[in-house]
Amino acid sequence: MYSIWRLCAFIVPTLAQLSLPNPPWLPPDASAGARVTANPSSPNPQWSTLLGNLLYFYDAQRSGNLSSSNRVPWRNSSAMADGKDVGIDLTGGYYDAGDYIKATYPLSFTLMSICWGALDYGQGYDQAKSTSATPYLDSMLRWGLDWLVKAHPAPSTLYVLVGNTDVDNAYWGGDENLPSFRPSYAINDTNPGTDAAAGASAAFSACSALYSGKGFNGAYSKPASLQDNAYSATLLTHAQQLYSFAVNATGGQKQYQKTVPAIAEAYSSSSFGDDLAIAALFLGWASNNTGYYQEAENYFNQSKLSGQNSIFNWDSKTPGLYVLFAQIAQSGSDLSSKLSAWQAECERYFDAIVNGNSGASLTNDGLLYYKGDSDDASLNPALNAAMLMTRYAAIATTSDRKNSYSKFAQSQVDYVLGKNSMSMPYIVGSNPNSPQNPHSAMASGGNDINNINTSPPQELHVLYGAVVGGPDRRGRFFDIRSDWPETEVALDYNAPMLTLAAMHVMNDPNDPFFTTLQAGAYDKVRPSGQPCDAAISDGCEKSGLSKGATIALAVVLTVVGILIIGLVVWYIRVGRLRRRKY
Ligand SMILES: *[C@@H]1O[C@H](CO)[C@@H](O)[C@H](O)[C@H]1NC(C)=O
Ligand SMILES: *[C@@H]1O[C@H](CO)[C@@H](O)[C@H](O)[C@H]1NC(C)=O
Ligand SMILES: *[C@@H]1O[C@H](CO)[C@@H](O)[C@H](O)[C@H]1NC(C)=O
Ligand SMILES: *[C@@H]1O[C@H](CO)[C@@H](O)[C@H](O)[C@H]1NC(C)=O
Ligand SMILES: *[C@@H]1O[C@H](CO)[C@@H](O)[C@H](O)[C@H]1NC(C)=O
Ligand SMILES: *[C@@H]1O[C@H](CO)[C@@H](O)[C@H](O)[C@H]1NC(C)=O
Repeated sequence: MYSIWRLCAFIVPTLAQLSLPNPPWLPPDASAGARVTANPSSPNPQWSTLLGNLLYFYDAQRSGNLSSSNRVPWRNSSAMADGKDVGIDLTGGYYDAGDYIKATYPLSFTLMSICWGALDYGQGYDQAKSTSATPYLDSMLRWGLDWLVKAHPAPSTLYVLVGNTDVDNAYWGGDENLPSFRPSYAINDTNPGTDAAAGASAAFSACSALYSGKGFNGAYSKPASLQDNAYSATLLTHAQQLYSFAVNATGGQKQYQKTVPAIAEAYSSSSFGDDLAIAALFLGWASNNTGYYQEAENYFNQSKLSGQNSIFNWDSKTPGLYVLFAQIAQSGSDLSSKLSAWQAECERYFDAIVNGNSGASLTNDGLLYYKGDSDDASLNPALNAAMLMTRYAAIATTSDRKNSYSKFAQSQVDYVLGKNSMSMPYIVGSNPNSPQNPHSAMASGGNDINNINTSPPQELHVLYGAVVGGPDRRGRFFDIRSDWPETEVALDYNAPMLTLAAMHVMNDPNDPFFTTLQAGAYDKVRPSGQPCDAAISDGCEKSGLSKGATIALAVVLTVVGILIIGLVVWYIRVGRLRRRKY
């Protein structure tokens, strides 16, 4: 018996967490990102560094006891009493963005997205050996997943928020003196939250598949080498329980902010059919139980998710469903007879984006922009589209489409990495032109909420690897610390860039765009004036006129406008008559 077990253990190795390099890998100074690689080849060291930096950002966002694992010299253990109010341990996990709340729904999306990317482009992580990307990925995922396990202490209980958004918004400072009022909010069987439970289930399933090494066949690489079957099984148990909770809660199916209004301001979910469908789909993939595919299709059909042009993000999973259905179908599963139907759905969706009839447009300097959705954190919809497009291109039906999707995705990645009217790589610390003022209370070093921009004058810590919100609809980026729509950082903003960077490590010998940008490039084109967005409206004022004068001017302009329109209509009619005549 003993020897048989040893043999099994040898055939199916079950490893614990991968060991991290000692001393740790740390991001190089931003100036290293302004050096063009001579004789570039794959894996390109600049892409490996970028992947390393993107992972490092998550280390900087860690909450809880950092004593054994911290590689961010300016971070301290914090929020060590989380969960005490409800008698459980909810320490750990990640701070959501530039603030200090811990929000389960966007965290779940982030983990799902990163695990999915590490299934498809896992060799990219493995090949980025120079930055130990796979061990750091493993460490990053476990820090999130271990917390999600704590937040799911019983089959039908899930903590969805720790911290209070109002209290948190009133605090600006370091990690040592956080406001102690950090309540823990849960959903449960009688007061459920379908989207949050399903979203967490999807994260557990996607990551369970990753930890069991179950990648998609054919068109994709092997998963990142972090297999741990025991861990995978634990994650799968949580995924199954949360899916049942989402589907069958006594309290019915409802949006989680109806149970936990405290989350509404920060992360309201608009619907949950997409969450149920993606939870079922990933659960089917992770568990080999193909019955779930049928359930996923049912939710998809009932929620009428076909034919949409929506974005992909923490609240909206629909485009991800198109791609995941197609990936599972092409992997020789029960869904294989439906491959062409799912490809058609994907190609309708992506063709519309590439051909400019998806409802989105391009900014003058080339960023995919969804009016409304892109008004805060403009890079996120574009990066998520580029990520899905890159992934889908591998299984597109024609080589024309493969090329056009890859080209479009590349254009968005180039944009984010500095090929834009600002000469700005939108990732902190990756090049001398990178943002200097990310909206992050802990990196800023300030504690004066009334003077966020000037106290201190220079941001104290470099938040390496953080993808910031992004430019406005005119492509302008002001780099102002208090301007959260443009400069805030967040767990989910980084997620698609990890997957894209891993793909580039695998497939792209050439440098990321920013190596050609030398110090001072942004300063030459830095916009004058002020932004006009949800945080700063100074830039919205078009004139210095008094209110009365503005109204008078508006009346005059309206009258002139009506006269001009009248003249134009008259001219066109006359013109038509003339054309008819001749
Ligand atoms: C933090 O973790 C370290 C080792 O991992 C442990 O020794 C220490 O007691 C922990 N601190 C607290 C406050 O739990
Ligand atoms: C961590 O603690 C040190 C020492 O007290 C402090 O200087 C630093 O600002 C703290 N870090 C943060 C992010 O607040
Ligand atoms: C479920 O949550 C509600 C509040 O959202 C709470 O009043 C109730 O006691 C909880 N039920 C259980 C069984 O914990
Ligand atoms: C929900 O409950 C029904 C009826 O008991 C059961 O057949 C079904 O398997 C349950 N679904 C899940 C996902 O647990
Ligand atoms: C799913 O099937 C694969 C291949 O047959 C197997 O290696 C894996 O252990 C199975 N997973 C589960 C959760 O049963
Ligand atoms: C969902 O709708 C499609 C298209 O109408 C149909 O082919 C498919 O069978 C439906 N799936 C389920 C599970 O009802």
